[in-house]
Amino acid sequence: MTHTHSQGRKKISIIGAGNIGGELASLIARTELADVVLLDIPEKEGLCKGKALDLEQNGTILGYDCRITGTANYKDTAGSDVVVITAGVPRKPGMSRDDLLSINLKIMRSVAANLKDNCPGAFVIVISNPLDAMVYECAKVGGFAKNMVCGMAGVLDSARMQLFLAQELGVSVKDVRAMVLGGHGDTMVPVTSYCTVNGVPIKSFIAADRLAAIVSRTANGGGEIVKLMGTSAYYAPATAAVAMAASYLKDQKRLLPAAAYCNGEFGISDLYIGVPTVIGKGGIEKVVEITLTDDEKAMLNKSVAAVRELVDAGAKL
Ligand code: NAI
Ligand code: 2OP
Repeated sequence: MTHTHSQGRKKISIIGAGNIGGELASLIARTELADVVLLDIPEKEGLCKGKALDLEQNGTILGYDCRITGTANYKDTAGSDVVVITAGVPRKPGMSRDDLLSINLKIMRSVAANLKDNCPGAFVIVISNPLDAMVYECAKVGGFAKNMVCGMAGVLDSARMQLFLAQELGVSVKDVRAMVLGGHGDTMVPVTSYCTVNGVPIKSFIAADRLAAIVSRTANGGGEIVKLMGTSAYYAPATAAVAMAASYLKDQKRLLPAAAYCNGEFGISDLYIGVPTVIGKGGIEKVVEITLTDDEKAMLNKSVAAVRELVDAGAKL
């Protein structure tokens, strides 16, 4: 019996206690969403325990009740309601997400095998890159139900697009909605036909060339930050995953883009890729098949091909 959390509270385990892992723990604690287990490799057990203690001490100043456990032992993750996987190596300048495949695939296999034994019933949110291929591998090795595994990318990519649109249009980020589908890579699909300012389609506000520039900046949004700071983003990626975890734990049924299992939707089969989903107590409760323009359909097909190529390459490693 492990005592990593209060019986009356939910429990979220974070695998990988690096930049995203630390920010995730901090956000979950501040919002009292759940107790937290922060796990990393044995060489980093001290880092996990140190971050956990720092964050618990932070709670006495900010006034939150949250137990945070740092560990390298998967037994401490037992009974988790949600697991967020950030384990892996982030991009260095000049590296593509796909370059990470061989390193992170090995890491994902070991993480998923451990989760299979310790957290078989959890809702699993993968963040590690290359995202869509990592979700596929996690589901395969971990043996999780297809509706209980997904990947975070669409919420982040959409947030980036919303920011760029709000800045271009001179309106509040609160009123701009955008949805980015497809794989989390150069082939991602910013679905411009569904971008609105408070329900008003953006095409009535913005010139085609300015919109094209924003689409391109969104697709390179991760790389832009890697170039600036030598490692990848972590504040917005953590917040995006917490939104997905909250939708599951609180049965909010939010319609969020996520890398989810497709079984014929959008003509995609046997692949995890960014699609609109409803996330509630049943995990990925639905993949919502929205109508796309011919251009968007072509972009999505191209993205599917790129993700499939990566998954096939991974199967040979
Ligand atoms: P980081 O390097 O700060 O943290 C990663 C942690 O994973 C390290 O502490 C490392 O020791 C740990 N780790 C490595 N192997 C492990 C194993 N076998 N078991 C447990 N932990 C292990 O990296 P950061 O910035 O937190 O990024 C994490 C991942 O998220 C990267 O792969 C990055 O590319 C990806 N990412 C994905 C985004 C998305 O939209 N899906 C956005 C931003 C980053
Ligand atoms: C990001 O989008 C690099 O995937 C990472 O920030």
